[in-house]
Amino acid sequence: MAKTTFTCNACGASHKKWAGKCEACGAWNTIVEEAGLSTGPAKKSLGAAKGRRVELSSLSSHDLPLKRVVSGLEEFDRVLGGGLVPASAILVGGDPGIGKSTLLLQVAAAFARRGVKSIYISGEEATSQIRMRAKRLGLSDAPVLLAAETNLRDILTTLDAERPEFVIIDSIQTMWADHVDSAPGSVSQVRATAHELTAFAKRRGISVVLVGHVTKEGQIAGPRVIEHMVDTVIYFEGERGHQFRILRAVKNRFGPADEIGVFEMTGAGLEQVTNPSALFLSERDAPASGSVVFAGIEGTRPVLVEIQALVAQSPLATPRRNVVGWDSGRLSMILAVLEARCGVGFAGMDVYLNIAGGMRISEPAADLAVAAALMSARQDQPLPVDTVVFGEISLSGALRPISQADARLKEAQKLGFSNAIAPQSIKAVSSANFAINKLSDLGDFIVEVFGEVKA
Ligand code: TYD
Ligand code: MG
Repeated sequence: MAKTTFTCNACGASHKKWAGKCEACGAWNTIVEEAGLSTGPAKKSLGAAKGRRVELSSLSSHDLPLKRVVSGLEEFDRVLGGGLVPASAILVGGDPGIGKSTLLLQVAAAFARRGVKSIYISGEEATSQIRMRAKRLGLSDAPVLLAAETNLRDILTTLDAERPEFVIIDSIQTMWADHVDSAPGSVSQVRATAHELTAFAKRRGISVVLVGHVTKEGQIAGPRVIEHMVDTVIYFEGERGHQFRILRAVKNRFGPADEIGVFEMTGAGLEQVTNPSALFLSERDAPASGSVVFAGIEGTRPVLVEIQALVAQSPLATPRRNVVGWDSGRLSMILAVLEARCGVGFAGMDVYLNIAGGMRISEPAADLAVAAALMSARQDQPLPVDTVVFGEISLSGALRPISQADARLKEAQKLGFSNAIAPQSIKAVSSANFAINKLSDLGDFIVEVFGEVKA
């Protein structure tokens, strides 16, 4: 008998009864009724019937090395870990309108031009619309095969007959499997169609890209509910109003996670940005208080980014703490360390922190750069010119060592910087044209760089 359960469209958690708020992920109004999806224990046991004996092998068995197929779009290949692995399933998630369809049409065209048979299936646009976009992107000559279809059964039959190597499903939320009794975009449909498509891809040796819209309202299921099914999860992100777009691997069974690819949205589609540091710093104005250059690492690549802070007297009883591109909890921690360990208070002041260019940073190595930006803004005192900053701050106020200091310093030197402020414990030493100021404590940093602290 089909059992009714309640499922959260944002995270996929099951609940026994309907509630306004999902206890698992905290989202509101995302729980919907799902028919025929039982979460209870299976009614029937396996019984006495014998199964087939599974062949076991040793860890040292030799397999052929992974053969990867490259698209030639280097920023895309890098995020996959050096190209596409045959028979893999990739999820590309992102906000509506961020450029997923544009990117994947360009990728499909790049593969097709290299002789990889590619099919682009859209459930959102008519083929004439896709052709129009291709024309605008200058891709009309690429031998990509198109279809506008949402019926999964028909799609699988077509793929079975065509035998492509690369398929794009845009988007998974529009796909519809006729054996599941709920609307397209619901958790059960998204799960079932993603499962069928990935299983089919593995069986037939096809690489499939599933596009998933990130949804805030919870009316349709977000890409989170299928993250565990696929080999690679990539998010395409960026600020609206900014032309930079960052492709970020958050899970990759065939390569490093956290790798990023950087693109710029132009009138003729997405252009690759091969030297992101130069791009993120290109818009930097003259040295100003509150602006600090952080020497970061994104995946395997060093990237310099500008961190901006603004500190102003607040008219509010509870001053603002506003963060774009960084973790707000981490900002609170840095403010608390500044206050408790260094005696620098931010009470009664609004604090704004922004990572320039629509970039998002998650490295703790940015702590010192954030503290430097906050101090510089509070003191209205710019940092010495041509300086990069990195280092993790512990709760005691000590500056902790961070990884890959050499790569960070090399990138800074390459881009014309001549000073660095870093934790004591890094091995690199100053040279004739690059001075490294090594410090062991946040308090020392403040005294050395800013001198007297304003009340
Ligand atoms: P799209 O790829 O349709 O987004 P998604 O599939 O993630 O929903 O991108 C839509 C936006 O990109 C749209 O606002 C217009 C912009 N765009 C450009 O700026 N230049 C271009 O060449 C193209 C094709 C789109
Ligand atoms: Mg789209």
